[in-house]
Amino acid sequence: MSHQHFETLAIHAGQEPDAATGAVVPPIHQVSTYKQDGVGGLRGGYEYSRSANPTRTALEENLAALEGGSRGLAFASGLAAEDCLLRTVLTPGDHVVIPNDAYGGTFRLFAKVAQRWGVEWSVADTADPTAVRAQLRDRTKVVWVETPSNPLLGITDIEQVAAVARGAGARLVVDNTFASPYLQQPLALGADVVVHSTTKYMGGHSDVVGGALVTSDAALAEELAFHQNAMGAIAGPFDSWLVMRGVKTLAVRMDRHSANAERVAEMLVQHPKVTEVLYPGLESHPGHEVAAKQMRSFGGMVSFRVAGGEEAAVEVCNRAELFTLGESLGGVESLIEHPGRMTHASAAGSLLEVPGDLVRLSVGIESVDDLLEDLRAALG
Ligand SMILES: Cc1ncc(COP(=O)(O)O)c(C=O)c1O
Repeated sequence: MSHQHFETLAIHAGQEPDAATGAVVPPIHQVSTYKQDGVGGLRGGYEYSRSANPTRTALEENLAALEGGSRGLAFASGLAAEDCLLRTVLTPGDHVVIPNDAYGGTFRLFAKVAQRWGVEWSVADTADPTAVRAQLRDRTKVVWVETPSNPLLGITDIEQVAAVARGAGARLVVDNTFASPYLQQPLALGADVVVHSTTKYMGGHSDVVGGALVTSDAALAEELAFHQNAMGAIAGPFDSWLVMRGVKTLAVRMDRHSANAERVAEMLVQHPKVTEVLYPGLESHPGHEVAAKQMRSFGGMVSFRVAGGEEAAVEVCNRAELFTLGESLGGVESLIEHPGRMTHASAAGSLLEVPGDLVRLSVGIESVDDLLEDLRAALG
């Protein structure tokens, strides 16, 4: 199916009609174990649902196709996927370069969990490949990139940083959660592994928590699949089905998210109470050209800084109505949040601390006129 376009793959890859009934949607195989025809006689290769489950397989094949990889693996959350990856590729004494504006939970995983197991890390502005090179050590095994980043919407040139990582014998991991594979395909740009919180745009409806890894490296895929089973944080059948259902409309949703976010960013740029708008679609954004090169459009996430500091930013979050105050992102409904006190509170006091006057929007697919009106009212 590799000759087909993204929109077609999203609906059909891994989604063969059910062999037994013809059901056009893969069923939810809500089951833990499978009858064997004699000891070791597996009917469809399935023996126990931690190891593999047909609904999860359908999602995993779909994810691999959408990212242009050879293997996808689905997990219970984005952080479970990240944990599986880092425990597969790192051993004590190894070193990782992480971005200076990673998702707070990713930072916490390295700083509070992996570090206890002897994994060393340092921080770089991954938007600058020279800064990444400066952090490389003999035992650097992974360079971690998030582009666009959460919550500062920083842009990293994936091709350039892939070359830096490769030159040092390290793997490049790209968290593609903000862009989704519809907007950006890191494996084609030289990344070794793509990470997703499928909770976000892939699921798209704020009704499931999930994660994924995709790679084209067959040997690494085998090791990851071994650890997925050995560690056990798999996506359950119903969660896999929900993500699959979301993915079918990913392309049309992302087009609308991007179009609405562009209008929101343009309005905010003009607003007297806004001191800075962080959106890669704006020509003033330092990563605009790189984003235009490696992304189909600029996505649905917009951050901005509010005149009057932290309390003023918190007030804007509290006053918004149509933009629901809440963590997470990537659903059809618009969300607003204060990263410093909410999603990125765990980065307080670290090199990844975010500005107090920052507000983050996940621009949904409602009427953009209603969204603009709500934001203008919230800004006062
Ligand atoms: C960019 C990014 N990566 C990873 C994660 C972690 O994913 P999950 O919450 O599904 O564990 C998040 C969650 O907000 C995220 O925004």
